Amino acid sequence: MLSYLHGFHAGNFADMHKHAALWLVLSHLRKKKKPFCVIDTHAGSGWYDLGSDQAAKTGEWKDGYARAKAEPNPPEMLAAFLDHVARFDPVAKGRDYGVREEDAYRGPFYPGSPFIVREMLREEDELILMELHPREHETLHHRVKRDGRIHLHKRDGYEGLVAMMPPVIRRGLVLMDPSYDVKQDYQKAANAVQHAWEKWPNGTFMLWYPILEDGFDGDLRTSFGAIKASGGVLCAELAADQGGAKGRMRGTGLLVINPPWQFDQQLAEIGVWLAKTCKFPGPAQHSINWLVAAQ
Ligand SMILES: C[S@@+](CC[C@H](N)C(=O)[O-])C[C@H]1O[C@@H](n2cnc3c(N)ncnc32)[C@H](O)[C@@H]1O
Repeated sequence: MLSYLHGFHAGNFADMHKHAALWLVLSHLRKKKKPFCVIDTHAGSGWYDLGSDQAAKTGEWKDGYARAKAEPNPPEMLAAFLDHVARFDPVAKGRDYGVREEDAYRGPFYPGSPFIVREMLREEDELILMELHPREHETLHHRVKRDGRIHLHKRDGYEGLVAMMPPVIRRGLVLMDPSYDVKQDYQKAANAVQHAWEKWPNGTFMLWYPILEDGFDGDLRTSFGAIKASGGVLCAELAADQGGAKGRMRGTGLLVINPPWQFDQQLAEIGVWLAKTCKFPGPAQHSINWLVAAQ
């Protein structure tokens, strides 16, 4: 069952936290000349028009990206990411970014994970994308097909990830960002990351999860606490204490295996700033904990 469409949620507080963390890892990977590879198992459609009816229906980006962009003095690494988003204009890029003449765009625009990574790729780097939703896949295909560094698969991200391990370029990141349409996704995500890490113990793995009143985030933390990666396992959460309406996210979480050096300090600074700046169902806090210490 594929009912989720990221266009309703792009640029919300969860995207701010997740995409800032993604930006931090990419910035670290770019520091060395050696090529890197990113595998994005649940890619979405690539980029989003925040002026669309979908985005207007929830207005979530106004509580996330719009607030972050309007507030002065963000932490340095977040400022770099926000600048990138503010400059992101697929319409100006035209065919290369898969803009269709028949579509009416309003803007502003927000890059999803594939286009955040694309911005940071060098000639020798590689991006592997998986997306199962037929329409999202078709849109994404149209948007990335002219870039030889990007390989898109219409494939289940859990099964596909394990089958691709280890990647040919043995330096890089796996981003797993499921929609959690069904509760089995929590177990599938934990199993897939565990098996993939066993085949690629030096890779960095980042799993996103929502914090809901009746969520299964505790099970995920328990599973990840058993992954004895030499670079450690980090858990970062940005959440309000109280949940609001049933089924509504009160927070957002990331589990990161083998995070880069100083990632914890950089994300802590960003998270505390986002907790004050974005709008949550109640007062929010950011927390960072090592579930498994780095050796
Ligand atoms: C949260 S969205 C991804 C957002 C994107 N990672 C970003 O940051 O811009 C999750 C996506 O996963 C897709 N999806 C759901 N189940 C999937 C599966 N088993 N394998 C691959 N893609 C899946 C959905 O269609 C949806 O587009």
